[in-house]
Amino acid sequence: MKLLSRKATCNSHGQDSSYFSGWEEYEKNPFHEIRNPKGIIQMGLAENQLSFDFLESWLSKNPDAAGFKRDGESIFRELALFQDYHGLPAFKKAFVEYMAEIRGNKVSFNPSHLVLTAGATSANETLMFCLAEPGEAFLLPTPYYPGFDRDLKWRTGVEIVPIQCTSSDGFQITEAALVAAYQDAQNRNLRVKGVLVTNPSNPLGTTMTRNELNLLISFIESKGIHLISDEIYAGTVFSSPSDFVSVMEILKARNCENVWKRVHLVSSLSKDLGLPGFRVGAIYSNDDIVVAAATKMSSFGLVSSQTQYLLSAMLSDKKFTNKYISENQKRLRQRHKMLVSGLEKAEIKCLKSNAGLFCWVDMRHLLRSNTFESEMELWKRIVYDVKLNISPGSSCHCTEPGWFRVCFANMSEETLELAMQRLRAFVTEYSTVLGQSRSNGHSQSRKNSRRRSLTKWVFRLSFDDCNRQPDER
Ligand SMILES: Cc1ncc(COP(=O)(O)O)c(C=O)c1O
Repeated sequence: MKLLSRKATCNSHGQDSSYFSGWEEYEKNPFHEIRNPKGIIQMGLAENQLSFDFLESWLSKNPDAAGFKRDGESIFRELALFQDYHGLPAFKKAFVEYMAEIRGNKVSFNPSHLVLTAGATSANETLMFCLAEPGEAFLLPTPYYPGFDRDLKWRTGVEIVPIQCTSSDGFQITEAALVAAYQDAQNRNLRVKGVLVTNPSNPLGTTMTRNELNLLISFIESKGIHLISDEIYAGTVFSSPSDFVSVMEILKARNCENVWKRVHLVSSLSKDLGLPGFRVGAIYSNDDIVVAAATKMSSFGLVSSQTQYLLSAMLSDKKFTNKYISENQKRLRQRHKMLVSGLEKAEIKCLKSNAGLFCWVDMRHLLRSNTFESEMELWKRIVYDVKLNISPGSSCHCTEPGWFRVCFANMSEETLELAMQRLRAFVTEYSTVLGQSRSNGHSQSRKNSRRRSLTKWVFRLSFDDCNRQPDER
């Protein structure tokens, strides 16, 4: 008799993806300016540490909010006692007003349609439980956030069918790709229940165009399915070409009654406010049945009362939110520029982006061949030798080898500068050797690399060594 459940022993969680194994490598040898200056720099974590000073300054000016007090009086007991799963009304009101503010107040939200969850992770899974049966499918544009395999599939049994987006279209969603994904699901006998997109995109760092959003609405309208828009990065849009357009704005403009109840938003304070540890997310839906079911399910992942209390005070301080949003965007823009110009100096390009905490970086020219094996080979060099943890495109289900997600907002400027120096040094030597090995053929390149064994990159770039596993080094 098996003692453990199938769920506990299956591996559909995605834990063994290179996205997570890169984090594990980082944990074994984390960079620190003084204690471990040769350690691995974490560039695989989409965290925003650029604006903590604003939050800390607000906290020091508003000690009651974090000190369990109202007008100087303790409310410890009130917060410690049983919490209703509908959430604190004051917090829900402050949250929806903040959601509207980061969308330029072009749309407004009704707090009674909001369900609080322990982060966007829980919001996405809860929506799967509400909208699909095990074995039914959601279509997702590739590349997508690696955590979705866990959040959407693992416990729910829902399937993900990729919408194959490619660099030739700037990774935008096309009608042909949508139709092909739908057909692919049908060929696999999977019933499609909806499309899930992230806008702005993780890992692309781009906002969706009005055309793409209109295409999506028309598609779900014609197929009679749902659309989930995970807008967790809505507050990280830092520059044009286009400002952020929420799918709710398109719905309002088109006045489409028939899909109104089939479009659902996911939101969170993890990215723009930089509070992933507080576990604050939300579902926003126009369908009362979805709101009621998700509210009942939220019992499994509530946001604690003291967090709600603290954040309702912070988010209802409009002077603070206004300043925070604009300053945070300024800092993200500057940091993004720093990464892009650091990459350019290493002759590396990335997809033009205007949002998020990362860039989608094109290293196709550094691959030995146009394969995912070559992508892993390059990734291992970058993690184990250059000591930068970045995320390979294959972990995001990208269909083209050679793309990587590189994060820029979870470190100091000095650390980012050091990361770029390391990458530059690596690329200079690696591309020379790669060029030689391409023009001279295998055996000649081995001879050359032995001759030039003074430099560590060249020495390490023999074919045999490249094929070795990291733990064999
Ligand atoms: C697109 C997307 N959705 C959801 C999440 C999970 O966020 P949270 O920390 O709020 O659970 C992330 C985190 O990186 C994300 O990138």
